[in-house]
Amino acid sequence: MSNYTIIAEIEEIPSGERKRIEIDGRRISIFNIDNTYYAINDTCPHKRTAPLIRGKLDGIGIKCPNHGYRFDLETGECNIDSAFNTKVYPIRVEGNSILIDLD
Ligand code: FES
Repeated sequence: MSNYTIIAEIEEIPSGERKRIEIDGRRISIFNIDNTYYAINDTCPHKRTAPLIRGKLDGIGIKCPNHGYRFDLETGECNIDSAFNTKVYPIRVEGNSILIDLD
């Protein structure tokens, strides 16, 4: 099952930009890297407090602003320990809308 839901319009997140959304009680960070969108749980799973939206991009990955663990934006894999792998969401564009699959 998929549960694609509109979370933003493309004008809101131009290439190189990012935006955090809150939906269904989840905080999710959306990144636009060279006009490809990625969606990842915003809260770093290491200490469960740091917001990945404030992290530094590293290729197709985001480094946590606290201790620098890197999370792959395509898979959610953590480079330090798989115990900290996190959730990423399928994302697609329809017309001017960005949708993510919340399942
Ligand atoms: S809180 Fe994110 S790496 Fe430690």
